Amino acid sequence: NVGNSTNIAWHHCPVGKLERQNLLNQKGCVIWITGLSGSGKSTLACALSRELYVLGYLSYVLDGDNIRHGLNKDLSFNSEDRAENIRRIGEVAKLFADAGVICIASLISPYRRERDDCRSMLPDSTFIEVYLDISLEVCESRDAKGLYKLARAGKIKRFTGVDDSYEPPLNCEIVIAQTDGECPSPVAMAKQVLSYLEEKGFLQ
Ligand code: PPS
Repeated sequence: NVGNSTNIAWHHCPVGKLERQNLLNQKGCVIWITGLSGSGKSTLACALSRELYVLGYLSYVLDGDNIRHGLNKDLSFNSEDRAENIRRIGEVAKLFADAGVICIASLISPYRRERDDCRSMLPDSTFIEVYLDISLEVCESRDAKGLYKLARAGKIKRFTGVDDSYEPPLNCEIVIAQTDGECPSPVAMAKQVLSYLEEKGFLQ
Protein backbone atom coordinates (compact mmCIF):
# COMPACT_ATOMS: atom_id res chain seq x y z
CA ASN A 1 0.00 0.00 0.00
CA VAL A 2 1.61 3.26 -1.13
CA GLY A 3 -1.17 5.55 0.05
CA ASN A 4 -1.52 8.58 -2.17
CA SER A 5 1.74 8.13 -4.05
CA THR A 6 1.44 6.86 -7.61
CA ASN A 7 3.95 5.89 -10.30
CA ILE A 8 6.63 4.96 -7.84
CA ALA A 9 8.93 1.92 -7.82
CA TRP A 10 11.03 0.21 -5.15
CA HIS A 11 14.79 0.48 -5.73
CA HIS A 12 17.01 -2.25 -4.32
CA CYS A 13 20.44 -1.32 -3.00
CA PRO A 14 23.31 -3.80 -3.49
CA VAL A 15 24.33 -3.48 0.15
CA GLY A 16 21.65 -5.23 2.19
CA LYS A 17 20.60 -5.69 5.78
CA LEU A 18 22.72 -8.84 6.15
CA GLU A 19 25.91 -7.04 5.13
CA ARG A 20 25.16 -4.19 7.52
CA GLN A 21 24.41 -6.63 10.35
CA ASN A 22 27.67 -8.49 9.71
CA LEU A 23 29.54 -5.22 9.93
CA LEU A 24 27.96 -4.52 13.31
CA ASN A 25 27.90 -8.08 14.70
CA GLN A 26 24.28 -7.73 15.76
CA LYS A 27 20.79 -8.21 14.38
CA GLY A 28 18.66 -5.17 13.68
CA CYS A 29 15.42 -5.19 15.63
CA VAL A 30 12.86 -2.96 17.28
CA ILE A 31 12.38 -2.99 21.03
CA TRP A 32 9.00 -1.32 21.48
CA ILE A 33 8.44 -0.10 25.04
CA THR A 34 4.83 0.69 25.87
CA GLY A 35 3.23 1.84 29.12
CA LEU A 36 1.61 4.71 30.95
CA SER A 37 3.19 8.11 31.35
CA GLY A 38 5.64 7.84 34.26
CA SER A 39 5.96 4.05 34.01
CA GLY A 40 9.69 4.36 33.24
CA LYS A 41 9.78 3.91 29.45
CA SER A 42 12.46 6.54 28.81
CA THR A 43 14.44 5.41 31.85
CA LEU A 44 14.45 1.83 30.59
CA ALA A 45 15.28 2.94 27.03
CA CYS A 46 18.30 4.93 28.21
CA ALA A 47 19.51 2.25 30.64
CA LEU A 48 19.24 -0.40 27.92
CA SER A 49 20.99 1.77 25.36
CA ARG A 50 23.79 2.36 27.86
CA GLU A 51 24.17 -1.36 28.68
CA LEU A 52 24.28 -2.20 24.97
CA TYR A 53 26.85 0.52 24.32
CA VAL A 54 29.11 -0.79 27.09
CA LEU A 55 28.87 -4.27 25.54
CA GLY A 56 29.77 -2.83 22.12
CA TYR A 57 26.36 -2.88 20.42
CA LEU A 58 24.80 -0.04 18.46
CA SER A 59 21.34 1.07 19.52
CA TYR A 60 19.27 4.19 19.01
CA VAL A 61 16.40 5.50 21.13
CA LEU A 62 13.25 6.92 19.56
CA ASP A 63 11.46 8.56 22.47
CA GLY A 64 7.85 9.72 21.96
CA ASP A 65 8.37 12.96 23.87
CA ASN A 66 11.53 13.77 21.90
CA ILE A 67 10.14 12.89 18.47
CA ARG A 68 7.21 15.18 19.23
CA HIS A 69 9.77 18.05 19.33
CA GLY A 70 10.59 17.49 15.64
CA LEU A 71 9.23 14.92 13.19
CA ASN A 72 5.89 14.69 15.03
CA LYS A 73 5.53 18.25 16.25
CA ASP A 74 2.38 18.66 14.16
CA LEU A 75 0.59 15.95 16.17
CA SER A 76 -1.69 16.43 19.18
CA PHE A 77 -2.93 13.85 21.68
CA ASN A 78 -6.30 13.11 20.10
CA SER A 79 -6.75 9.50 19.05
CA GLU A 80 -6.10 10.11 15.34
CA ASP A 81 -2.85 11.93 16.04
CA ARG A 82 -1.69 9.36 18.58
CA ALA A 83 -2.31 6.68 15.96
CA GLU A 84 -0.28 8.69 13.44
CA ASN A 85 2.46 9.21 16.04
CA ILE A 86 2.70 5.45 16.52
CA ARG A 87 2.62 4.78 12.77
CA ARG A 88 5.40 7.25 11.98
CA ILE A 89 7.63 6.05 14.81
CA GLY A 90 6.97 2.49 13.62
CA GLU A 91 8.14 3.42 10.12
CA VAL A 92 11.27 5.14 11.42
CA ALA A 93 12.02 2.22 13.74
CA LYS A 94 11.69 -0.13 10.78
CA LEU A 95 14.35 1.87 8.90
CA PHE A 96 16.71 1.74 11.88
CA ALA A 97 16.22 -2.03 12.22
CA ASP A 98 16.88 -2.40 8.50
CA ALA A 99 20.08 -0.42 9.03
CA GLY A 100 21.12 -3.16 11.47
CA VAL A 101 20.59 -1.03 14.55
CA ILE A 102 18.87 -2.12 17.76
CA CYS A 103 16.15 0.49 17.75
CA ILE A 104 14.50 1.24 21.08
CA ALA A 105 11.14 2.96 20.67
CA SER A 106 9.66 4.31 23.89
CA LEU A 107 6.26 5.90 23.62
CA ILE A 108 2.96 5.43 25.41
CA SER A 109 1.48 3.93 22.22
CA PRO A 110 -1.85 3.32 23.96
CA TYR A 111 -3.58 1.47 21.13
CA ARG A 112 -3.20 -2.25 20.54
CA ARG A 113 -4.17 -2.07 16.91
CA GLU A 114 -1.50 0.48 15.96
CA ARG A 115 1.17 -1.39 17.93
CA ASP A 116 0.19 -4.57 16.12
CA ASP A 117 0.35 -2.72 12.79
CA CYS A 118 3.95 -1.74 13.62
CA ARG A 119 4.70 -5.35 14.51
CA SER A 120 3.39 -6.51 11.15
CA MET A 121 5.70 -4.05 9.32
CA LEU A 122 8.79 -5.79 10.73
CA PRO A 123 10.30 -9.12 9.65
CA ASP A 124 9.34 -12.09 11.88
CA SER A 125 10.50 -11.95 15.50
CA THR A 126 12.28 -8.62 15.09
CA PHE A 127 9.54 -6.62 16.84
CA ILE A 128 10.00 -7.09 20.57
CA GLU A 129 7.18 -5.56 22.54
CA VAL A 130 8.00 -4.68 26.15
CA TYR A 131 5.09 -3.81 28.42
CA LEU A 132 5.97 -1.72 31.45
CA ASP A 133 3.18 -2.95 33.67
CA ILE A 134 3.37 -0.29 36.37
CA SER A 135 0.10 0.68 38.01
CA LEU A 136 -1.55 4.03 37.43
CA GLU A 137 -1.30 4.59 41.17
CA VAL A 138 2.51 4.31 41.11
CA CYS A 139 2.87 6.37 37.90
CA GLU A 140 0.67 9.06 39.34
CA SER A 141 2.51 9.12 42.65
CA ARG A 142 5.79 9.68 40.77
CA ASP A 143 4.32 12.48 38.61
CA ALA A 144 7.83 13.59 37.61
CA LYS A 145 6.52 16.22 35.18
CA GLY A 146 3.48 17.28 37.22
CA LEU A 147 1.20 16.27 34.34
CA TYR A 148 -1.09 13.93 36.31
CA LYS A 149 -1.81 16.78 38.70
CA LEU A 150 -2.72 19.04 35.79
CA ALA A 151 -4.83 16.28 34.21
CA ARG A 152 -6.72 15.67 37.48
CA ALA A 153 -7.35 19.40 37.70
CA GLY A 154 -8.79 19.31 34.17
CA LYS A 155 -5.98 21.49 32.83
CA ILE A 156 -4.76 18.76 30.42
CA LYS A 157 -7.46 16.93 28.54
CA ARG A 158 -7.24 13.37 27.25
CA PHE A 159 -4.42 12.34 29.52
CA THR A 160 -3.66 8.62 29.23
CA GLY A 161 -4.96 6.68 32.22
CA VAL A 162 -6.95 9.66 33.51
CA ASP A 163 -9.47 10.53 30.80
CA ASP A 164 -8.00 8.65 27.84
CA SER A 165 -7.60 4.93 27.31
CA TYR A 166 -4.59 2.63 27.50
CA GLU A 167 -4.87 -0.86 26.03
CA PRO A 168 -2.26 -3.22 27.54
CA PRO A 169 -0.70 -5.79 25.21
CA LEU A 170 -2.38 -9.21 25.26
CA ASN A 171 0.58 -11.23 24.15
CA CYS A 172 3.89 -9.39 24.18
CA GLU A 173 7.45 -10.67 24.35
CA ILE A 174 8.43 -9.11 27.68
CA VAL A 175 6.44 -7.87 30.66
CA ILE A 176 8.24 -5.81 33.26
CA ALA A 177 6.10 -5.63 36.37
CA GLN A 178 6.08 -4.61 40.00
CA THR A 179 6.67 -7.37 42.54
CA ASP A 180 5.08 -6.90 45.95
CA GLY A 181 4.47 -3.30 45.00
CA GLU A 182 8.19 -2.73 44.31
CA CYS A 183 9.29 -1.48 40.89
CA PRO A 184 12.43 -2.94 39.36
CA SER A 185 15.47 -0.67 39.11
CA PRO A 186 16.48 0.76 35.70
CA VAL A 187 19.44 -1.65 35.51
CA ALA A 188 17.25 -4.64 36.46
CA MET A 189 14.76 -3.69 33.71
CA ALA A 190 17.54 -3.29 31.16
CA LYS A 191 19.05 -6.67 32.14
CA GLN A 192 15.68 -8.36 31.65
CA VAL A 193 15.57 -7.09 28.06
CA LEU A 194 19.27 -7.83 27.50
CA SER A 195 18.77 -11.46 28.55
CA TYR A 196 16.00 -11.79 25.99
CA LEU A 197 18.19 -10.32 23.24
CA GLU A 198 21.06 -12.66 24.15
CA GLU A 199 18.79 -15.70 24.34
CA LYS A 200 17.22 -14.97 20.93
CA GLY A 201 20.57 -14.39 19.21
CA PHE A 202 20.31 -10.68 18.52
CA LEU A 203 23.77 -10.05 19.99
CA GLN A 204 26.67 -11.93 18.40
S1 PPS B 1 1.43 8.63 22.50
O1 PPS B 1 0.20 8.38 23.26
O2 PPS B 1 2.18 7.40 22.24
O3 PPS B 1 1.14 9.37 21.26
O4 PPS B 1 2.32 9.54 23.45
P1 PPS B 1 3.89 9.89 23.37
O5 PPS B 1 4.28 10.32 22.00
O6 PPS B 1 4.66 8.81 24.00
O7 PPS B 1 3.99 11.19 24.28
C1 PPS B 1 3.72 11.08 25.65
C2 PPS B 1 4.40 12.22 26.43
O8 PPS B 1 3.74 13.46 26.20
C3 PPS B 1 3.41 14.11 27.42
N1 PPS B 1 1.94 14.34 27.35
C4 PPS B 1 0.94 13.42 27.42
N2 PPS B 1 0.92 12.09 27.66
C5 PPS B 1 -0.29 11.48 27.67
N3 PPS B 1 -1.46 12.09 27.45
C6 PPS B 1 -1.49 13.42 27.22
N4 PPS B 1 -2.66 14.04 26.99
C7 PPS B 1 -0.25 14.14 27.19
N5 PPS B 1 0.07 15.44 26.99
C8 PPS B 1 1.40 15.55 27.09
C9 PPS B 1 3.90 13.26 28.54
O9 PPS B 1 5.07 13.89 29.03
C10 PPS B 1 4.29 11.94 27.89
O10 PPS B 1 5.60 11.51 28.27
P2 PPS B 1 5.90 10.20 29.16
O11 PPS B 1 7.38 9.99 28.96
O12 PPS B 1 5.09 9.06 28.65
O13 PPS B 1 5.57 10.61 30.56
